[in-house]
Amino acid sequence: VAGSPAWTAEIHRLAEERDAVILAHNYQVPVIQDVAHHVGDSLALSRIAATAPQSTIIFCGVHFMAETAKILSPEKTVLIPDAAAGCSLADSLTVEELRAWKAENPGAVVVSYVNTTAAVKAETDICCTSSNAVEVVDSIPRDTPVLFGPDQFLGAHVRRILQRDNVKVWGGECHVHAGINGAELSAKAAAHPDADLYIHPECGCATSALYLAASGAVEPDRIKILSTGEMVHAAGASRSRQVLVATEIGMIHQLKRAAPGIDFLAVNDRASCGYMKMITPDKLMRSLLEMRDEVHVDPDTAARARGAVERMIAIGS
Ligand code: 13P
Ligand code: SF4
Repeated sequence: VAGSPAWTAEIHRLAEERDAVILAHNYQVPVIQDVAHHVGDSLALSRIAATAPQSTIIFCGVHFMAETAKILSPEKTVLIPDAAAGCSLADSLTVEELRAWKAENPGAVVVSYVNTTAAVKAETDICCTSSNAVEVVDSIPRDTPVLFGPDQFLGAHVRRILQRDNVKVWGGECHVHAGINGAELSAKAAAHPDADLYIHPECGCATSALYLAASGAVEPDRIKILSTGEMVHAAGASRSRQVLVATEIGMIHQLKRAAPGIDFLAVNDRASCGYMKMITPDKLMRSLLEMRDEVHVDPDTAARARGAVERMIAIGS
């Protein structure tokens, strides 16, 4: 039975036999998070993938994450338990669209969120994740125009923090985070007046949160815009009794592990990513037994994308 001590021991035995490290994103189902060797956000997992001593990486996450691991470590075997686990945000900017956007904006530096295909990364100057998007854009001289894609809400967050209006933002979004709206956030905040708010910058409600602060409905220092990894750190250091969480619901498991004394409530408990949930315990077992699904990135595309991804993992903490 998945999650039992015998199942866990078998997964770990097979991983050792295959010389494989199992990585899981914070949005994976709890049983996958619990069996993985490392759980984290996109940036942390990319860094682990780049330095892990094992010859095989099993990426329990979505396809662009496994592709990023392959770009960083082309000599390693990178497996994903289901290669069909995509991402609506990565789908919202094609390489043809990016090329046309660049042609309209000569001289601009292209910053792409890691939630993109390898082909888009190959046309990118620097990638970023939600943990370091602000630092990445801030590393570009202030008078240089920037094209930021594909996430419009993360882009708006970066523009707001840096007060920089020469950052042009693509209009893409993640269907899960865009669906967590401002009305829901305001209603939840009003019903739980003492709770802190952890909001992922991909959320459609990230801007509404700042209106809540400006209107005095919520004290500004109780509103935190955080990547999933930053949420775990904030929870571990927090003395709050209750936290409202605006992101994919898989996050709550890792938050409870980090801070068992805090009551974590999802702002929208239907915010589940069907792509992340395609990775099941049975598919993880199959992946180890049959060494599938292997992720391939065309070597020329990988070579052109590598610099942008390496700059990403070098920036931010
Ligand atoms: P982070 O884990 O980097 O915050 O990314 C969130 C996400 O949506 C990944 O799909
Ligand atoms: Fe993509 Fe959104 Fe799912 Fe993350 S939660 S993998 S951004 S669709």
